[in-house]
Amino acid sequence: MKIEDITIEVASEKHLGYVERILTSIEEAAQVRGTGIARRKPEYIARKIEEAKAVIALHGEDFAGFSYIETWEHKRYVTTSGLIVRPEYRGLGIAKKIKDLTFSLARTRWPNAKIFSLTSGAAVMAMNTKLGYKPVTFAELTNDESFWKGCEGCINVDILKRTDRRYCICTGMLFDPEEHLPAKIPQDVLDRIAELDKEDNTNEEEI
Ligand SMILES: CC(C)(COP(=O)(O)OP(=O)(O)OC[C@H]1O[C@@H](n2cnc3c(N)ncnc32)[C@H](O)[C@@H]1OP(=O)(O)O)[C@@H](O)C(=O)NCCC(=O)NCCS
Repeated sequence: MKIEDITIEVASEKHLGYVERILTSIEEAAQVRGTGIARRKPEYIARKIEEAKAVIALHGEDFAGFSYIETWEHKRYVTTSGLIVRPEYRGLGIAKKIKDLTFSLARTRWPNAKIFSLTSGAAVMAMNTKLGYKPVTFAELTNDESFWKGCEGCINVDILKRTDRRYCICTGMLFDPEEHLPAKIPQDVLDRIAELDKEDNTNEEEI
């Protein structure tokens, strides 16, 4: 099998039938790795697919891989989550292609958001590094309680709790879009833009 045989695309309604398969694959991989995962309900994954916040890899009709995008703190932070490639499809470069597509999707949709990752996986660290993520302390990640709630299902959560969310087994990695811009936009301008964008319900065609 070759990577060319695999279709990797932004998921849409036609892929809703794969939700159970996706969740089973994520669950099985977590068991093999012996780590916890942020468990998601089928409806949650289905919504990600409907909202064009997911990428799926298929070999014909056979499910090969998946990942979805989550936003935190009113879209100031973004994660690409739940990356999975089924064992029989690993080592072909599928995860890299899925990651590239979720990353581009996130950057296109929320260009000012910081994209972060909390992972213990060597493959994910390698891919993050190539995309420009840097290792950071947990203090630089989101404060959004719903993100950290995802750690509750992990076998190491006691460490996270014991250290007041400062340290754990996972490495925090951050892609800060500002570091990739030639000039820094002052915070008061960013706040002003955010306010303007919030209020902007006008039709752009009305001049
Ligand atoms: C991690 C996983 C998604 C990789 O999928 P894959 O399609 O085999 O990965 P790719 O072939 O696209 O490889 C991507 C990169 O990771 C590296 N890589 C892949 N598996 C690796 C491993 N087990 N250890 C270290 N690096 C690895 C590859 O060498 C490649 O790096 P390169 O571009 O520098 O050569 C897959 O093994 C998986 O689903 N694992 C279980 C779930 C999981 O761990 N998800 C991540 C949660 S944080």
